[in-house]
Amino acid sequence: MKLIIRNIAQLVHTEISPKLKFSGSEMSDLQTISKAFLCIEDDRIHSYGEDNDSAVKAILSSEPNTQIIDAKGGMVFPSWCDSHTHIVYAGSRELEFVDRINGLTYEQIFSRGGGILNSSAKLRLASEDELFESASLRLEEIIRMGTGAVEIKSGYGLSTESELKMLRVIRRLKEKSPLTIKATFLGAHAIPPEFKNNKDGYLKLIMTEMIPAIASEKLAEYCDIFCEKDYFTSDDVKRLFEVANKHGLTPKVHAEQLSHSGGIKAGVESGAISVDHLEFIEESDMKALKGSKTMPVLLPGAQFFLGLKVPPAREMIKYGLPVAISTDYNPGSCPSGNMNQMISLACILYKMTPEEAIIAATTNSAYAMDLSKDYGSISKGKKANLFITKPIPSYAFLPYSFGSRLTDTVILNGKVICTNLN
Ligand code: NIG
Ligand code: FE
Repeated sequence: MKLIIRNIAQLVHTEISPKLKFSGSEMSDLQTISKAFLCIEDDRIHSYGEDNDSAVKAILSSEPNTQIIDAKGGMVFPSWCDSHTHIVYAGSRELEFVDRINGLTYEQIFSRGGGILNSSAKLRLASEDELFESASLRLEEIIRMGTGAVEIKSGYGLSTESELKMLRVIRRLKEKSPLTIKATFLGAHAIPPEFKNNKDGYLKLIMTEMIPAIASEKLAEYCDIFCEKDYFTSDDVKRLFEVANKHGLTPKVHAEQLSHSGGIKAGVESGAISVDHLEFIEESDMKALKGSKTMPVLLPGAQFFLGLKVPPAREMIKYGLPVAISTDYNPGSCPSGNMNQMISLACILYKMTPEEAIIAATTNSAYAMDLSKDYGSISKGKKANLFITKPIPSYAFLPYSFGSRLTDTVILNGKVICTNLN
């Protein structure tokens, strides 16, 4: 079954020979085709090019039942890929937001039992069904904003029972949602109250009980850890990942967010697919990342929401590194899953160009969840996950319009999921 989109003002981020990631100056190389058409067959991109009657007629003559969508002069982008979220959570944390306005820091809120521990207490009380319902609504919200693939972490359970509960919710979301979803086990997100002053006891529980249970039920693809003062050290990262790797869980790290804690180097050494946050990245970390398979992921929403130091995105790109952008959608440090807003922040705060930000939020963020072979650009044979915008004057209008939703139609797996959005 074929579907043709015609009257596209510009097809954005096309690739003839798709790359798995874009590094350094390659991130400026955003290819486009003006006045274009795109043809989808089943769930894949079949062909695309300049819109002219003969190209389209040739397709229609072989398949007269082909559905035609008029993009009405909107642009077509590959769906955003969001490689870092904590979308399964219970309740909200706006009171901590007010506490921070009144002068408390994120660290101070955590040390009095709030922060991640606040969300953990709430999550433990929530049923699997409640968590599934609230997370489903968040997924519907991000679909309307143009996201087509998303990674979701556990990490608010902090006990075997509650971590498994979160991961089973993610499994149900994978089955039900049209989004492509990857699951990450983040048991090492914080030390739960039962193990206060006994971090080693908690790590042992993670390594001997949680990971084997998760691996045997195939509940996660990745294993993550928060490497930070008062949470876990770079030695803990290496110990944990030795076990995770043995069980087939690929490492990811929350690294250098609030201070320089060595998470990047430990992650690279352990074969991490990504290291995320990176506000406190140093030149020696860039050296470790250069030429490695690890994707540095920036989370501008969390950096902005917590008022943290700006990560040196320009230096990283100049150093020749790839850079990805994702949301970190969670109740404490980024209650937003809006990828368009993230590319705006990357342009405004990090001085990334629109070309770099779009590539960072598509191919490079797809790479951070092992999806860039099939997702993250408009290329023949890739998954037909894309969105049509309302008419806009140029692709830079997307990051420029930092508060607007410009998606008009969302297509996932070759099917129209929603249209006429406002
Ligand atoms: O990515 N930094 C650690 N974890 C999350 C925050 C989670 C929370 O505050 O609930 C983050 O920012
Ligand atoms: Fe996070």
